Amino acid sequence: MAFTCQDIRPMKFVSETKRTHYCGNINKSLAGQKVVLMGWVNTRRDHGSLVFIDLRDREGIIQVVLDPKNSETAAAKDLRGEYVLAVEGIVKVRPDGMINKKIKTGEVEIEATSCEILNESQTLPFQLDDENVQESLRLKYRYLDLRSPRLQGQIRMRHKVLQLVRGFLAESGFIEVETPILYKSTPEGARDYLVPSRVNPGTFYALPQSPQTLKQLLMIAGYDRYFQIARCFRDEDLRADRQPEFSQIDMEMSFIDKEDIIALNEKLLRLIWKEVKGIDVGTVPRMTFQEAMDRYGSDKPDTRFGLEIQDLKTTIQNSGFKVFDDVVARGGIVRGISVPTGGSFSRGQFDKLTEIAKKAGAKGLVWIKSEGQGQFSSPVSKFFNNEKLSEIFAKCGGKEGEAALIVADDFDTACAALNALRLNLGKELKLIDTTKDKFLWVVDFPLLEYSPDEKRWVARHHPFTSPVNEHANILLNNEESKYGGLLAKAYDLVCNGYEIGGGSIRIHRNEVQQAMFKTLGMTPEETKLKFGFFLEALKYGTPPHGGIAWGVDRLVMILCGTDAIREVIAFPKTAKATDLMADAPSEVNRDQLAEVGLKLSPLAEKHLAEMKNKS
Ligand code: AMO
Ligand code: AMP
Repeated sequence: MAFTCQDIRPMKFVSETKRTHYCGNINKSLAGQKVVLMGWVNTRRDHGSLVFIDLRDREGIIQVVLDPKNSETAAAKDLRGEYVLAVEGIVKVRPDGMINKKIKTGEVEIEATSCEILNESQTLPFQLDDENVQESLRLKYRYLDLRSPRLQGQIRMRHKVLQLVRGFLAESGFIEVETPILYKSTPEGARDYLVPSRVNPGTFYALPQSPQTLKQLLMIAGYDRYFQIARCFRDEDLRADRQPEFSQIDMEMSFIDKEDIIALNEKLLRLIWKEVKGIDVGTVPRMTFQEAMDRYGSDKPDTRFGLEIQDLKTTIQNSGFKVFDDVVARGGIVRGISVPTGGSFSRGQFDKLTEIAKKAGAKGLVWIKSEGQGQFSSPVSKFFNNEKLSEIFAKCGGKEGEAALIVADDFDTACAALNALRLNLGKELKLIDTTKDKFLWVVDFPLLEYSPDEKRWVARHHPFTSPVNEHANILLNNEESKYGGLLAKAYDLVCNGYEIGGGSIRIHRNEVQQAMFKTLGMTPEETKLKFGFFLEALKYGTPPHGGIAWGVDRLVMILCGTDAIREVIAFPKTAKATDLMADAPSEVNRDQLAEVGLKLSPLAEKHLAEMKNKS
């Protein structure tokens, strides 16, 4: 193949003349000095006798003035947007009237004495600063979107946070250890990503959902304090704050209890907020799981606004309204919230709120609207007189001009519906003070929860979490009737309604861990297959230990003030777990499959054929 002029261009710059500064760092103190800059042409304005460009690199942009008639800067004529350019020139202070206050380098400009085009660029598929570009196009050309100051700032914020964390943990005696990615299933409640083994056909690695068992093994091995910025993989339904692969600040400590972990992590939290936002977080308040559910309907409440849930049990007893009475008779709850300005809501708005409640699982929504002068309207006014409506309304915390929203259902469903309503209204009615971050430790989680789908008990955090001391015997004695009331030594760190971290004190006695697996419905054979190695390890002198993992992506997302996790990951996946840039996941050839002992099912073949037809 013939070389093009591009390939054989000598490039005096880069090889001989080295860069002296970043564009964004040029300032008045360098006036009169010769500098060499390299970067991308952000914009170009041709005034005939002079060409003005904004040259951009990761630190910012600077104006460069080039004379196309000068042979050393003649390349100015050929410049286009996003060309890669090297410039040598003199830093000049701009005259008063020409100062550009919008950019950091606006007081100066570069008078070019020589320049060289290092590479050309095609016209970009979208303008870097255009905010109306479809996200799919941005993701296809992620490397271009990553040039934008917005993403550069966010990715660098992530770097800064990780540097702070590494420094803090290393100074606190933690040892960074990398753990395998090709491993065995680690249960964190999601599906595993499986990797077939070529050398051992028919067997599979599972990518770790977290390094949970590995970090515990490091405690057994005597490392005492471990940390890792760990990659985790979970095949689960994705949401705005969830990615199939994500990073954790993962840590584990020996010979400690819950208070030690909370204290250390609060110190780390304070450091991050101080360094990044200049804010003193202070002491983080605590709330039990039960209180969080009762007051907010969520185990990760957004405490930046009120709209707290009120219990109506005593007010609606034997109400005569079948919906409420039946729910109470079945052991369910009737609870409500009161909405400021709700007194002026239209029928359509209440219908929308009813839909939100129903989407969260509720069967319906009762609303009571204050019509002023002690009068109320409600779809259930045929069941309750005005006086009773007024009483229920007041119990919800309602004041004149407001509306009460009431859900009757089993505890979990009613909480989910009221939480969904509360979050929606908090946003819609702008009740959230977005200038402040609100933190919370949620503690005293239930150890187990019953899964009606699987018809068995499942671990609420993970199966390695220890029950509180008083409850360990209930597990050991298999007292199933008491499982629902078991409390765990678990804690979550919550910020603005996001769970940014979660952890627990672990089970460190072999027999308790065995009892836990049994409680979760695992047969001895299954336990041996999945966790035999781990149960074996617990027999050889396991220290009491515990830990926590923070979600890096969620943490950085909050620090950057965005609510999309994709905004803080260099190469994220879509909500369908695909990479639009590299087109992953993608088909592999049949030989490769055969090599690892696999064959596609007719269903998979059909899906592939359909996809090919579409493209
Ligand atoms: P857990 O499953 O609670 O605990 O995860 C810890 C933190 O990781 C973040 N996170 C996620 N971030 C982005 N996308 C996801 N799909 C995702 N899933 C979780 C959350 C969460 O708080 N091994 C235990 C920790 C321990 O017990 O020490 C664990 O993984 O911010
Ligand atoms: P119905 O008697 O089914 O017409 O319901 C009367 C009102 O009660 C309607 O506004 C329903 O949306 C509401 N509703 C029905 N079931 C529930 C429930 N479980 N919780 C709260 N409101 C409900």
